[in-house]
Amino acid sequence: MVGFINMRAFDWKAGQLIMIALLVMVASFYTGTLFGDNSSSVYVPLSQQDVQQKQPPAANGSALASGVFTNKVDLTYRTVPLRIPETGMNICPLKYNEYIPCHDPSYIKELLPKLDLSRKEELERHCPPLSRRFFCLVPPPADYKIPIRWPTSRDYVWRSNVNHTRLAEVKGGQNWVHEKDQLWWFPGGGTHFKNGAPEYIQRLGNMTTNETGDLLSAGVFQVLDVGSGVASFSAYLLPLHIETMSFAPKDGHENQIQFALERGIGAMISALSTKQLPYPSNSFEMVHCSRCRVDWHENDGILIKEVNRLLRSNGYFVYSAPPAYRKDKEFPLIWDKLMNLTSAMCWKLIARQVQTAIWIKPENNSCLQQNALQNLISICDSKDDTTPSWKTPLRNCIAECATQNSLQSHSVSLSISRQKFLLDTIYWQDQVRHYWRLMDIEEKEVRNVMDMSAFLGGFAVALSTWPVWVMNVVPVSMNNTLSAIYDRGLIGAFHDWCEPFSTYPRSYDLLHANHLFSHYENREAGCLLEDIMLEMDRILRPQELWIEKDVKQLTSSDVVFLVHETTPLYTRAEQHRLHLQWIKVGENENNIDLLGDTLSSGVKMKASSQELEISLQSFSGIQSCIFSKTPEENRTSLVLQKEVLGYSLKRETVNVLARVADGILSVHR
Ligand SMILES: *[C@@H]1O[C@H](CO)[C@@H](O)[C@H](O)[C@H]1NC(C)=O
Ligand SMILES: *[C@@H]1O[C@H](CO)[C@@H](O)[C@H](O)[C@H]1NC(C)=O
Ligand SMILES: *[C@@H]1O[C@H](CO)[C@@H](O)[C@H](O)[C@H]1NC(C)=O
Ligand SMILES: *[C@@H]1O[C@H](CO)[C@@H](O)[C@H](O)[C@H]1NC(C)=O
Ligand SMILES: *[C@@H]1O[C@H](CO)[C@@H](O)[C@H](O)[C@H]1NC(C)=O
Ligand SMILES: *[C@@H]1O[C@H](CO)[C@@H](O)[C@H](O)[C@H]1NC(C)=O
Ligand SMILES: *[C@@H]1O[C@H](CO)[C@@H](O)[C@H](O)[C@H]1NC(C)=O
Ligand SMILES: *[C@@H]1O[C@H](CO)[C@@H](O)[C@H](O)[C@H]1NC(C)=O
Repeated sequence: MVGFINMRAFDWKAGQLIMIALLVMVASFYTGTLFGDNSSSVYVPLSQQDVQQKQPPAANGSALASGVFTNKVDLTYRTVPLRIPETGMNICPLKYNEYIPCHDPSYIKELLPKLDLSRKEELERHCPPLSRRFFCLVPPPADYKIPIRWPTSRDYVWRSNVNHTRLAEVKGGQNWVHEKDQLWWFPGGGTHFKNGAPEYIQRLGNMTTNETGDLLSAGVFQVLDVGSGVASFSAYLLPLHIETMSFAPKDGHENQIQFALERGIGAMISALSTKQLPYPSNSFEMVHCSRCRVDWHENDGILIKEVNRLLRSNGYFVYSAPPAYRKDKEFPLIWDKLMNLTSAMCWKLIARQVQTAIWIKPENNSCLQQNALQNLISICDSKDDTTPSWKTPLRNCIAECATQNSLQSHSVSLSISRQKFLLDTIYWQDQVRHYWRLMDIEEKEVRNVMDMSAFLGGFAVALSTWPVWVMNVVPVSMNNTLSAIYDRGLIGAFHDWCEPFSTYPRSYDLLHANHLFSHYENREAGCLLEDIMLEMDRILRPQELWIEKDVKQLTSSDVVFLVHETTPLYTRAEQHRLHLQWIKVGENENNIDLLGDTLSSGVKMKASSQELEISLQSFSGIQSCIFSKTPEENRTSLVLQKEVLGYSLKRETVNVLARVADGILSVHR
């Protein structure tokens, strides 16, 4: 454990090296044009005579601001070969403004006869075949507003952006969320923490440390919140610097995860049912279930065995639900079953008080091996743990824990050295600084960030001093580096970009796509450049940003000056950004410039890779493995901004918000 903590400290300290002077930009927004009703006429260009098909939207978007756009409203399906209309991508009808391809209720309804409802298989991802995938841009709801910024968004979001009242109706009494004029208010409560998450979190700290400390001192750095609701638990763990991956299924019209994301809290749609969660083994020090509506005791405890997979040794399972405290109905029986299962898995019940029970996972395999001999539990065949958990069926067995899940052990299996980690970190600090300059936006404009191809999580580490959270996605077809990312104290998920991501439309402020298109370049249909860009458009908030970066290998030790026109992917991305009506904000063609610039303390920009390598060595005293390669690559980064066609995007002033907030507070005092 000690080595593990040190490693973290090392990374975070490195992360803090970034000292970036920000250019402050006046938030650019426009009010677009107001349309009265929500019929499809919403999208009809205001002034047809201004529409010039051959003239794409200008670089500064003024054409869009005046309501001129050519894209048609039409529900179009994906075709082979892909066909993008002359007028640019079509826009899906307004009623699809919350379209999540792999969690589409109408498609899942068709599948129902084939699904195992007793195991809630209908809550899992079910992606439609390609021919049934929409091929149009998902529009925002009619009254969509630029989201309220963090940290205010923790407590207030626009009602019009998540227009679902059911959760407030059902959970209002439990202080999850209340309705107030134009806003949703999140008082920080939950079913099992009506008095607020902070008190509950303190109690968990007391319970795990015999009343002497908090969760952090109990060794908790990363938490998995199962059935997270609106993610208030996660929001209030942030002051303790504990990172939480929250997930919940998309069920009914409650849209819990949409609320969480709108608040700026890390969350994704997922369900515990028949498949492993898309997170690596041994990743969390705590798995938390507060009324998470998972039947842990059913099916031979196969779901709680999945929790065992995800927990690190000495990790906690926190269970706040009626079986932990009620003596009526079937609850005592459920509790007995849970006790039988957990003791078979060698978990130790360390506390049971005030509606909450906490177990701890053993630190070694000695008890497990004994129980296996007595046939109380079966131990999984040792299977290569480096395969990503992606569409992997749940296993009704327990894997023996590796001796010590330190960075070291992952480094060995991934052959990533400590130095490589450090270099990756420095490299991304540099890049991030440059990106930020290119983006030219205020720090608080960005909250929800996704690194679509995260490798070692260096990008997220470089952002660690910013008020953002980062979803680190490791594509399943790449090397499995997600365990290493978790070992750095970051969170993330496996994903296959041949399919849409399990999130709501408009959930991210910034997407980072490093080597992504080139990785998928020669793949089967479903993850063509166009498919991925369309998905990026869906999950990106309007007027937010994404960064695309692609690299071409050069043959020799040429000096790096990239001619981006020669990169076919770049050209195609350029072409499609016009179809998607994205605006180019910045572009960088010359990475060596960046490097020299960044390693500011003493290293000047060098003309050749050889020189650069030498100066790096003298700079850091370590051998360079990433930088020495960089100068041989042709690299382009491109910053694009998504515009919304003809919508009225409103940015309300803080005054209005403060006034409403005052009202709420006085009502409740
Ligand atoms: C941006 O729009 C303004 C006003 O419409 C125009 O004067 C300017 O030339 C445009 N800039 C670019 C780069 O297109
Ligand atoms: C929510 O949607 C309903 C229609 O479904 C609409 O009448 C109402 O105005 C919307 N509320 C907000 C705040 O946008
Ligand atoms: C946790 O323990 C501290 C110190 O023992 C105590 O002051 C505090 O009230 C406890 N918190 C809860 C929620 O029980
Ligand atoms: C708390 O104290 C009890 C009794 O002293 C001990 O059995 C238990 O292991 C302790 N728990 C923790 C988490 O230290
Ligand atoms: C728990 O295990 C004991 C002993 O193996 C068994 O007698 C009992 O029936 C089990 N309880 C439940 C609820 O499965
Ligand atoms: C395994 O852990 C138990 C406590 O959980 C401890 O008593 C025992 O000594 C450990 N065995 C080894 C071989 O480390
Ligand atoms: C994956 O890892 C292997 C060695 O572990 C390495 O040779 C290969 O280049 C890596 N692939 C990628 C895409 O990083
Ligand atoms: C990379 O850039 C160099 C120098 O501009 C150019 O000659 C070369 O063709 C480019 N290579 C590729 C693969 O695009």
